[in-house]
Amino acid sequence: MELLDGRKLSQKIESELKAEIETLKSKHDVVPGLAVILVGDDPASRAYVKMKESACERVGLYSIVHKMPVTISQDEILNTITMMNENPYLDGILVQLPLPPQIDKDSLLEAIKKEKDVDGFHPYNMGRLVMGMDSFVPCTPLGVMELLAEYKIDVKGLNAVVVGASNIVGKPMASLLLNAGATVDICHIYTKDLKAHTLNADLVIVGVGRPDLITADMIKEGAIVIDIGINKVGDRLVGDVSFDTVAPKTSYITPVPGGVGPMTIAMLLKNTVTAAKARRC
Ligand code: GUN
Repeated sequence: MELLDGRKLSQKIESELKAEIETLKSKHDVVPGLAVILVGDDPASRAYVKMKESACERVGLYSIVHKMPVTISQDEILNTITMMNENPYLDGILVQLPLPPQIDKDSLLEAIKKEKDVDGFHPYNMGRLVMGMDSFVPCTPLGVMELLAEYKIDVKGLNAVVVGASNIVGKPMASLLLNAGATVDICHIYTKDLKAHTLNADLVIVGVGRPDLITADMIKEGAIVIDIGINKVGDRLVGDVSFDTVAPKTSYITPVPGGVGPMTIAMLLKNTVTAAKARRC
């Protein structure tokens, strides 16, 4: 069993991006900029946004966090997005999810200029991803693909199972795997026999937010296991996989923390630099 070390790879990517950002600044007078909209005071969202902000600082990206109260109206957020769309110094716009219930998230995500959609959640970019065309790709699934590539894991012909069918993780993850030649099952809350799917899989990718959802009896000997879950159990962070018992059966597995999490942030930085180069260089 080998650990897929997302922390190490994200540090390598960050140092490459830092050098690239220095060149963008000296050669083109461009400092890529990221705007984050944070609504309400959900502790997890605040923590994620803080991590994104610190990462921007580490690599030399300009970033702003626009905080809004939980009672905010749809129109007020929409106006903010419109302003950010027009701001030439902002290359990426990210609306931190989830949003409060009075807000229609889909119409906000669709209001973001597609050239600034560094989260890859705009239907234009999602559609292009499904079609295998060049697009902004959601950061978590993109980070998983980078991690697999770093360890020279070719998914072509593998039986892959994606557990979780969200727009931000499961669906784009499945599209990326399919585009790369894997045979993909997508499992979700209504799946009848999850174990029947996972036991047949060479590659299991899970991100639903349930500790111990994936246990050793569900995993084929030698499978690759990617854990996207982040759950707080007491004061410990754990994924969706029972790591201690599953890990010995796998060929590769991601730890939590230190697996996919840091890759997500690195991909956000990368998408923002890509957006800046496309718009301003
Ligand atoms: N909430 C949980 N994950 C994400 C993410 O990757 N992007 C945004 N915008 N919100 C999230």
